[in-house]
Amino acid sequence: MDAGTQTEQEIYFNPWDEAFRANPYPHYRPLYTRPPYLLNLFMQMALVARHADAVAVLRDHERMSSVQPRIPGIEQQDLFGDTATVLFSDPPTHTRLRRLVSRAFTPKRIKDLEPRIREIAGALLDRAQAKGELEVVADLATPLPVMVIAEMLGVPPQEYAQFKHWSDRIVEGDNTPPGMPLPDEVRRAYSDLGNYFAEVIERRRHEPGEDLVTALVAAHEESDALTAGELQAFVILLLLAGNETTTNLIGNGMLALGRHPEQLARLASDHSLLPRAIEEMLRYDGPVQSTVRYNKEPVEVGGTVIPANSVVFVILAAANRDPAQFSEPDRFDIARDPNAHLAFGDGIHFCLGAALARLEGAIAFRSVLERFPKLRLAEPEGAVAYKGSYFLRGLAALPMAIR
Ligand code: HEM
Repeated sequence: MDAGTQTEQEIYFNPWDEAFRANPYPHYRPLYTRPPYLLNLFMQMALVARHADAVAVLRDHERMSSVQPRIPGIEQQDLFGDTATVLFSDPPTHTRLRRLVSRAFTPKRIKDLEPRIREIAGALLDRAQAKGELEVVADLATPLPVMVIAEMLGVPPQEYAQFKHWSDRIVEGDNTPPGMPLPDEVRRAYSDLGNYFAEVIERRRHEPGEDLVTALVAAHEESDALTAGELQAFVILLLLAGNETTTNLIGNGMLALGRHPEQLARLASDHSLLPRAIEEMLRYDGPVQSTVRYNKEPVEVGGTVIPANSVVFVILAAANRDPAQFSEPDRFDIARDPNAHLAFGDGIHFCLGAALARLEGAIAFRSVLERFPKLRLAEPEGAVAYKGSYFLRGLAALPMAIR
């Protein structure tokens, strides 16, 4: 059947289906040929997959809200409840929070971390080298970002396993179907994480340091511009938003390289391609498949009117393979240029940690390539397993051979 006569039955979108999550990309293809598709699966949904439509929605923060509406009788699933966070707020709250937290999250603060990130990556790879094999997810992609964020927050990096445990429970919870209560262990992990950081914040109040928590405490105390609850929620958000995503950039990116040995060889022989290679990894198999917006009024997008009170899936990973935007979108090309992908979003919510993620990614790949010239997939034909979340796409494990 040609693209012009797609029927609705050909569209399959079900983030709660494991097979769909394992490889969502073929399911996005029919979505490029038409305006956003409307469907009713638990709730009124719109699927925004075309690059131009996704950009339009992400930039339309006045009508496309990031605040999950309170629906009477439906279990509230957002972890932060009524406490505002940058990610889940609209202006003017978003403007206030973003201004405050950006102050503590400066390019200089990130640049200064570079030697420390190298050191952490080096120590992690020492251990893999001694073992004689590299399980990318457990040995590098998971610990690196958690240890870096722990460093930024001024908490001991060795506590990373505990953070990781809480963060994993919370991330698993984001596949809970609408209307279902969040599992108890998700709520418990959230409150344990909250209690942990309440203590850290209290300590910094009395013993200021050079860390991000101290900078945020200052923003709070200066003018009460950041409430105590907002401060705590932001720290938790950083831990969640910053870890799993960067882990998945390293894991998904390494898999793409492993499956394209000619691209791997090209990168290994020319490290100047690293920045572009990272952008291509983000485009080709990005850590965030989709984000969500809510519209209170009907909004026209790309030729369709999205009815009021829809859950609008802005499928970033689909937009990143839209043939109208990218030539040969299914081809992994580490030198791709231009590459206007949406892996970090767009508009006022554009990822606050993008510079940090790019830096960590570049250091991780450079360190691995320098150290392991024989790097390749341990099981080139083997199937890979993904973790549980549709929204945050990442591998459960990725064994690579290094000698
Ligand atoms: C490769 C890694 C990463 C990816 C792909 C990623 C992706 C994203 C995306 C798509 C958004 C926008 C969501 C939306 O519009 O609804 C976002 C926002 C955000 N990200 Fe990231 N992120 C990454 C790493 C990080 C890191 C390392 C941090 C911090 C340590 C971070 C902190 C944030 C914050 C605070 C926001 C909210 C910004 C706002 O709403 O104004 N991210 N990220």
